[in-house]
Amino acid sequence: MTYDFDRRIDRRHTRSYKWDQNDKLFGDSDVLSLWVADMDFLSPPAVQAVLEKRAALGVYGYAIRSNSYFDAIVNWFERRHGWSIDPKWISDSPSIVTTLSLAVELFSEPGSQVVLQSPVYYPFYDVIQGNGRIVAKNPLVLRNGRYEIDYDHLESLFQGGAKLLLLCSPHNPGGRVWEREELLRLGDLCLKHGVTVISDEIHCDLALSGHKHIPFASLSPELADITLTGLAATKTFNLPGLQTSYIVASNPSMKRKFDHRIKTLSLHMAHHFAQDAVEAAYNEGEAWLDEMLAYVEGNLSYTLAYFKEHLPEAKPLRPDGTYLLWIDCRDLGLTVSELKALMFKQAKVAFSEGSVFGTEGEGWLRINLACPRSIVEQALRQFVQAARNR
Ligand SMILES: Cc1ncc(COP(=O)(O)O)c(C=O)c1O
Repeated sequence: MTYDFDRRIDRRHTRSYKWDQNDKLFGDSDVLSLWVADMDFLSPPAVQAVLEKRAALGVYGYAIRSNSYFDAIVNWFERRHGWSIDPKWISDSPSIVTTLSLAVELFSEPGSQVVLQSPVYYPFYDVIQGNGRIVAKNPLVLRNGRYEIDYDHLESLFQGGAKLLLLCSPHNPGGRVWEREELLRLGDLCLKHGVTVISDEIHCDLALSGHKHIPFASLSPELADITLTGLAATKTFNLPGLQTSYIVASNPSMKRKFDHRIKTLSLHMAHHFAQDAVEAAYNEGEAWLDEMLAYVEGNLSYTLAYFKEHLPEAKPLRPDGTYLLWIDCRDLGLTVSELKALMFKQAKVAFSEGSVFGTEGEGWLRINLACPRSIVEQALRQFVQAARNR
C-alpha cells in the first residue's frame, strides 16, 4: 500500500462536524464518532498540494472555472464508468442536497407527491417537505439480506399522481449498487408514467468488488432525457467540507431551468479552492481511490466477521458499495432511545441511529467504515461489550 490508511488523525478541535459535536450531541466528548459520512483519512496528496498552492496565492478574489476542470470530470466518467458526458451538460451546484432541493422546486408542483425509496438519506425527506411537497414513500423490500425495489407499489404511486422520483444510486443506507436490469425496469415505469428522475449518484465511485455502478442517465437517450443527475467528487475523495458538486443534464430544458435558478440565487460563482481540488482528485487520485476501497473492504470483512462471532443478533447487510454498513439490530429488542443510550452512554460510540432514515430504519444502525482499522476494532469492541452487558 502506498497510502497510510491505518494512521489515526486526531480531528478533534478542527471544527469537524463529526468529531467536534460529541459533547453537544451525545453528552460525552470521549465518544468514538463513526456516523457522519466523511472519512478519517487524508485526501489524495495531489489534492492537498493544489490547495496549499492556491492558499499561498494570498489573494482570494472571485474565481472562474477552467476548461481543464470540465475535462477532468468528463475524462473521469469516461474512464471509470464508460459514460460519455458532454461538458455542456455540466453545471456546478454547491452541494448535492442543494441540487435535490432545487430540483424538487423546479420539477414538481407545490403540494404534489414526490417519491423516495425508504429507508433513505434523511435530507431526501427534508427537501420534499421543506418545499411544501408530500413524501410518497416506496419502501425498499428486504429479500435475502438485500434491499430490492417494490415496482408494483412504485407504479401505484405514479398512477396516484407522483411525477418526480428522487433516486439514490448507489443507495444510502443499505449499500445497494442497483443493477442494470433493476434500473431499466424502474426507468420503464418512469417513461410510461411521465416521471422525472433526480438521480443522486454521489456514491457512484464507491462500488465494492464484484459490483459496478451504472449511471442512470447512461442507460438510454430516453432515460437521459428525463433525468438530472447529481454528482460530486466529495464523497469519493473526502472533500465534503469544500461544499462542491455538479449536475449532469443532457435535456436542455431541464439544464436551462436549473441554471436559471442557480443564477437567481447567485450560487453560480466558482469557489476559490473547490474546482482545483476536484480537478486534482479526478486527474491524480485514482490509485488512492483504489487503495482506499481495498482498505474499506478490509474493514468491512473484519466487521462482518466480528458481529458474526461476538453478536450474531446484530445482522449487517453486506453492501455492494459505499463505506457505510447498515445493521439490523432489531433482535436486540431495544427501543430507539434504548439503542441510543446503548451507543452513546454505555458503549461510547456514535453510529447513526436508523430511524433518521425513515420509520423502516427503527432498530437499525449505520456504521461509517471509512476510518483506520484500529478505530473500527475499538468501536466494535466497546459496542459489543455494552450490548452483552445489558
Ligand atoms: C446519498 C447522499 N446524498 C447526498 C449527500 C450529501 O451531499 P452534499 O454534502 O453534497 O449535499 C450524502 C452524504 O452522506 C449522501 O449519502
